Amino acid sequence: MNPGNRDIQTRLPGVQSLCRLHIKGRNRRLIRLENVSWTLPEGGDIIRDLNLTIPGGKLTVVTGPNGGGKTTLAKLIAGLAKPSAGRIWLEGEDITSLDVTQRARLGISFGFQTPVRFKGLTVQDLLETAAGRALDFDTLCDITGKVGLCTVDYVDREVDARLSGGEIKRVEIASVLARGTQVSIFDEPEAGIDMWSFKGLVDVFNRLKREKRTLIIISHQQRLIDIADEILVLSEGQVRDQGPREAVLPGLLAGEIAGFCPVGRREKAQ
Ligand SMILES: Nc1ncnc2c1ncn2[C@@H]1O[C@H](COP(=O)(O)OP(=O)(O)O)[C@@H](O)[C@H]1O
Ligand SMILES: [Mg+2]
Repeated sequence: MNPGNRDIQTRLPGVQSLCRLHIKGRNRRLIRLENVSWTLPEGGDIIRDLNLTIPGGKLTVVTGPNGGGKTTLAKLIAGLAKPSAGRIWLEGEDITSLDVTQRARLGISFGFQTPVRFKGLTVQDLLETAAGRALDFDTLCDITGKVGLCTVDYVDREVDARLSGGEIKRVEIASVLARGTQVSIFDEPEAGIDMWSFKGLVDVFNRLKREKRTLIIISHQQRLIDIADEILVLSEGQVRDQGPREAVLPGLLAGEIAGFCPVGRREKAQ
């Protein structure tokens, strides 16, 4: 538990349970990074002393130049990378030492930028593994339909190299939906998805947003940035900007070159 929260409860023992409820409600599914760094084995910080809070129940789009550390940040939150320094909190609980499976049990799921392919595993197998239970036809239809795949055509397909880049990406997003976790991280979900299906993808995220899930979407796509509650701009392993969309978007659009040139961003930030 967050030491600050414990302190409040010690000082007010009479209202302890009420207080715990209030704290839990207020901090629900919120993620906090405290002085987090991630250093390469050969040296060099990819993430540098990062302090940030990702609000619970909201859609945060993480954007910024290529190589800025977005995927690394996502892996640190999902437990696929261990911080070299610092702590990571979920709802006031220190999850720094938890591995990816333990974090998945706490309700964090991650859709890879480049999804893993599994020979011999069908789409249905993958979705059922993600959901942790057998799925009936209607449920499969519902999940695959959300990502624009027809269940009849796809449930028996293997999640192997024969699926196209766009298809595997949709299956990956469907598996995150099947997990139904409270915190879902999507790394460039638009990659490989044709423009024709893009509206469907935006609808999926809007639906999750209405359900008050905590969503972290790494993206450069304006149509996804447009539905963000919060925008986090990451460059050279550091936060360049963060806040409500209305506050961050004008600066992001004005400094468009910064999306491509980290030097441009650094010069602008000074
Ligand atoms: N395991 C690794 N070994 C070496 N370099 C890495 C490794 N992981 C990430 N990097 C480097 O760290 C930087 C940030 O990577 P990444 O987080 O994938 O950036 P982004 O997702 O913002 O494009 C890049 O320069 C990348 O090449
Ligand atoms: Mg990336």
